[in-house]
Amino acid sequence: MKQPVRIAVTGAAGNISYSLLFKIAAGEMLGPDQPVILQLLEVPQAMDKLRGVAMELEDCAFPLVHGISLHDNPFDCFKGVHYAMLVGARPRSKGMERSDLLEANAVIFAEQGKALNDVANRDVKALVVGNPANTNCLILSRNAPDLSPTQFCAMTRLDHNRAQGILANKLGINPGDIEGVCIWGNHSPTMYPDLHHAQILGDEAAIDMVDEQWYKEEYTPRIQKRGAEIIEWRGFSSAASAAQASLDHMRDWALGSDGRIVSMGVISDGSYGVAKGIYYSFPAICDFGGYQIIQNLYINDYGQAMMKKTEAELLEEKAAVEHLLPKETAASHEAQSTSSRTEATYYQADRIC
Ligand code: NAD
Ligand code: LMR
Repeated sequence: MKQPVRIAVTGAAGNISYSLLFKIAAGEMLGPDQPVILQLLEVPQAMDKLRGVAMELEDCAFPLVHGISLHDNPFDCFKGVHYAMLVGARPRSKGMERSDLLEANAVIFAEQGKALNDVANRDVKALVVGNPANTNCLILSRNAPDLSPTQFCAMTRLDHNRAQGILANKLGINPGDIEGVCIWGNHSPTMYPDLHHAQILGDEAAIDMVDEQWYKEEYTPRIQKRGAEIIEWRGFSSAASAAQASLDHMRDWALGSDGRIVSMGVISDGSYGVAKGIYYSFPAICDFGGYQIIQNLYINDYGQAMMKKTEAELLEEKAAVEHLLPKETAASHEAQSTSSRTEATYYQADRIC
């Protein structure tokens, strides 16, 4: 039997966590032979609700769950954690943009960065789900100067999954038959869902199977604004799909993506000319517990313009939270010049597509 690993989940009494925790406990994230200890964080006012969630976890009698602890302080919650799923933050409601949450949620990630820096396992992997995820991730990482920026990711896997699912529905095929969609940039309406490298059943180019006007004028805005569409219909922001995406992201990061391209908001190392030092979604492959940005994909003029627009938005968000960003460290400079691997071992596009 493997040693248990410690997983922190914040916002553990919230909507996303109500799906996520039970999937983690069932072994869907780290595998059916990996015991877990769940370290759950909430704000003091939500501790009763969190106790109820913990009771339900207990009532499932999951054999993989070797312990559950409840906390209202990140410095206690994050002690020794190997994985941190940072969900706890205010969601937007109808009519808001995710960036409207920046002020309310930014301070949460500054404090949690300090806590991870002080008490987490030195190899911790932290995934930011709370919005605006990319810039919260930047704040988190910069407040954890003893950890590498490559240990932090912002979640764009939900956008990636949406891009795959909605395309599959349009083409009348199984989502599993599509490989190579990717999301560039911010988890916001400026993101660029790119179909130019996607293939159907390994040989047909997805972009040739769709009408260009549909791709640019219907599909792209649909992916970009899918979160708002869900809020419009459901009355609340996406929860089960967000939980599934966060689980997919962490599973692939920890165990490998098996050669598949995934989208991850990671520290930019300057790949594709993207400004260094922002958390930008790139196509990546995961293996050996790390990720590698895929290099040398051909980007046409349309794609370059889309990528620049979303980069500009991230730079604006960064400027707005400058006061929460402690000075960059030697570790962050190093990570910006090489992602989680050296240049020589980068995956090359022609080996993937
Ligand atoms: P929710 O309101 O149902 O739950 C959030 C929980 O976080 C609440 O229980 C709240 O008490 C808790 N919380 C707030 N501040 C906290 C803090 N400092 N420490 C610990 N817990 C704290 O919201 P939800 O639907 O679960 O969504 C959570 C976040 O995830 C929102 O910001 C939402 O916009 C975001 N989200 C992101 C994506 C993505 O793709 N990146 C997808 C869906 C939702
Ligand atoms: C989503 O994309 O569903 C989330 O980011 C929630 C939101 O506010 O759109």
